[in-house]
Amino acid sequence: MQHSIDGNRLWARLMAMAEIGAIPENGSCRQSLSDEDEAGRTLFLKWCLSRGYKIRRDRIGNLFVRRAGSHPEAAPVLIGSHLDTQPTGGRFDGVLGVLAGLEVLETLDDRGVETTRSIELCVWTNEEGCRFQPAMMGSGVACGSLDLETALSARDISGITLAGEIARHGYDSHPVPRLDEADCYIELHIEQGPILEAAQKTIGVVTGGQGIRWYELSVLGEETHAGPVPMALRKDPVPMLTQIIQLVQAIGRINADARCTIGKICLSPGSINVVPGCADMTVDLRHPDEAGLDDMHRRLMDGLEMIRRAHGEVELQVRPIWHSPVIAFDQHLIEAVRTSASNRQLPFQRVTSGAGHDAFNLARRLPATMIFIPCRKGISHNPREYAEPYHVSAGANVLLDVVLGRAE
Ligand code: GLV
Ligand code: MN
Ligand code: MN
Repeated sequence: MQHSIDGNRLWARLMAMAEIGAIPENGSCRQSLSDEDEAGRTLFLKWCLSRGYKIRRDRIGNLFVRRAGSHPEAAPVLIGSHLDTQPTGGRFDGVLGVLAGLEVLETLDDRGVETTRSIELCVWTNEEGCRFQPAMMGSGVACGSLDLETALSARDISGITLAGEIARHGYDSHPVPRLDEADCYIELHIEQGPILEAAQKTIGVVTGGQGIRWYELSVLGEETHAGPVPMALRKDPVPMLTQIIQLVQAIGRINADARCTIGKICLSPGSINVVPGCADMTVDLRHPDEAGLDDMHRRLMDGLEMIRRAHGEVELQVRPIWHSPVIAFDQHLIEAVRTSASNRQLPFQRVTSGAGHDAFNLARRLPATMIFIPCRKGISHNPREYAEPYHVSAGANVLLDVVLGRAE
């Protein structure tokens, strides 16, 4: 028998969550472990507790909500995503996967469906990586691809440590994260790109995700007055910075699959009449093929070395801070997503994820996959991010089918 989720309830919850940390143009700002993030978790937990689900937390702040199966010893089916957002985030990135997960649990309760396996809904801490680096942190620690102490020592731009925020919210008394044996992991997410909408498909059958490398760069010069000091005598980081920008943009054009982003540039002290003493910047490289990503990494390192040699007046520091390798999802789960979309007569297409997701960390430990739905004009990491209610319900129904197929 085919069950269906309650699309109105799911939509109302998405909109209610978006009110927490609401920003202009319908967006949300709930950066990881901020007061707003905590308020979002509290609202989510209120919904979960009203259903009597068992809640667990861990030392990095991950939340686990369990709907018990009839065989408690059977490995559970994991689902989930994240509630934290970018500083100018939308209403769907991450939140969809969490609230559709809750919708799956409640639908099974409402229909009186008993499953053999328990279903565990995971809310991963700091997927976004905007306030604290790296991204996909909670899932990384739980899956053993990121060391707990490294994660706890991360600092935000104002110097606040992640450990401090974990303690402030009381997560430090919980057990160290460890992914117990589980059957599989399935995550629903908006596509965050334009492919499904352009192809008029409702479901993206996600086959894997591209690799990501992150870097922090600092160019150190010497602060001085903008007027009296002749150009030739300055230790100004900006000339080197402009060459680095050109290098990164050129690497982004080596082939159609390469993606290069400079998301942050900060000149210090940031005054109109001071030659900056320091330029800090970030670089994000992505490629769907690991050899392609390696090539981009090598070009960046070699190019930076050449730029360093040409600019003896300033010092260049390069810190590679994160590498999330290319990932391929589980063939059986990919097929289960395809079958559900086909049975429900939802147009679908195979896609690779351009964004990073917690599912990548899980996929290194368990059979895992993702389900995508379109988002308007492919816009994401933007307050104007939007997914149609019809697509939201369709994605949640496919999630329900795939989960039931594994848990029954
Ligand atoms: C996460 O949103 C990422 O793709 O960086
Ligand atoms: Mn996300
Ligand atoms: Mn995101």
